[in-house]
Amino acid sequence: MNTAIVSGVGPLEGLGAQLCVRFAKEGLHVLVAGRTDHKLEAVVAEIKARGGSAEWVVADATDETATQDLFARAGDQLELAIYNTGNNTPGRIIDMSSDFFANSWRVCCFGGFLFGREAIKRFAAQKTGGTLLFTGASASLRGRANFGAFNSSKAGLRTLAQAMAKEYAEDGVHVGHVVVDGPIAGEKIKRGLPEYAQKLGEDGMINIDGIVDGFVYLYRQPAQAWTFELDVRTSKEKW
Ligand SMILES: NC(=O)c1ccc[n+]([C@@H]2O[C@H](COP(=O)([O-])OP(=O)(O)OC[C@H]3O[C@@H](n4cnc5c(N)ncnc54)[C@H](OP(=O)(O)O)[C@@H]3O)[C@@H](O)[C@H]2O)c1
Repeated sequence: MNTAIVSGVGPLEGLGAQLCVRFAKEGLHVLVAGRTDHKLEAVVAEIKARGGSAEWVVADATDETATQDLFARAGDQLELAIYNTGNNTPGRIIDMSSDFFANSWRVCCFGGFLFGREAIKRFAAQKTGGTLLFTGASASLRGRANFGAFNSSKAGLRTLAQAMAKEYAEDGVHVGHVVVDGPIAGEKIKRGLPEYAQKLGEDGMINIDGIVDGFVYLYRQPAQAWTFELDVRTSKEKW
C-alpha cells in the first residue's frame, strides 16, 4: 500500500487531521505525525472507523532524529509528504526575545527543511518520485505589524519550497505550496478564539474541506502540468 506522511496533526477539526482523513480515503496508508498522542490517536481512530489505514507517530517536527525516524517508518512506497506544522507567533519586535524568534523559525521553516530533505531522499531512493506539499499562510507572502517572527519564517518556508521544487523536479518530485490566506474554520479559531470566530462568522473563515481539495488537486497533477502554488481565501477576505 502506498504511504503518505502528514506532519503537524492536531485536533480532528483541524487542517492536519482532515488532510490525513482525506488522503486515507484516497487509498493511502497515512502516518499521522504530531506532538500530542491523544490527538493523533483520535485521528487514526476516525480513519479506521471509515475503513481507512493509518498509524500515529509522535514526532516533534524540529527534531532531526525524530524526523528521520518518522521517514524510516514510511517503508519504500512513500508517495506523498505534507509539512503542515506551523504555529502563529504574534508579538512586537522590540518585545521579542531571541529565543522566541528562533523558535518560530524552527517550527515554521527549519522543520520544513528537515522534513523536505528526508522526503526527497526517500523519493530518490525509491526512484519513483513523489509529491511534497507545504502549508503556507498569509504570512508567506507579506510582512505585517505584530507578526514579524511568523511572517519571516513562513516566507522562508515558501522560498525553501520553491528551491526544492526547482532542484528536484527532474527527479520526479512535485513540490507544492498552499497559501491559506485567512483564518481556518477549525478548532484552533472556533474553540481557541471564540469571540474572534463569532465576529468572523462561518462565511469569514476558510472551509477546511476546500483547503484539502487544493492539496488533492496538487497531488493528482500529472508531471506534464504541475502547479507550484495555489492560494485559498474566503470571498470576504480583504487582500
Ligand atoms: N489556523 C489558522 O487559522 C491558519 C490560518 C492560515 C494558515 N494556517 C497554517 O495551517 C497549518 C495548520 O495550522 P492549524 O493551526 O490550523 O493547526 P492544525 O492543522 O489543526 O494542527 C497543527 C498541529 O501541529 C502541531 N505542531 C505544532 N508544532 C509542532 C511541532 N514542532 N512538531 C509537530 N507538530 C507540531 C500542533 O500540535 P499540538 O496541538 O499537539 O501542539 C497543532 O495542533 C499551519 O501551517 C498554519 O501556519 C493556519
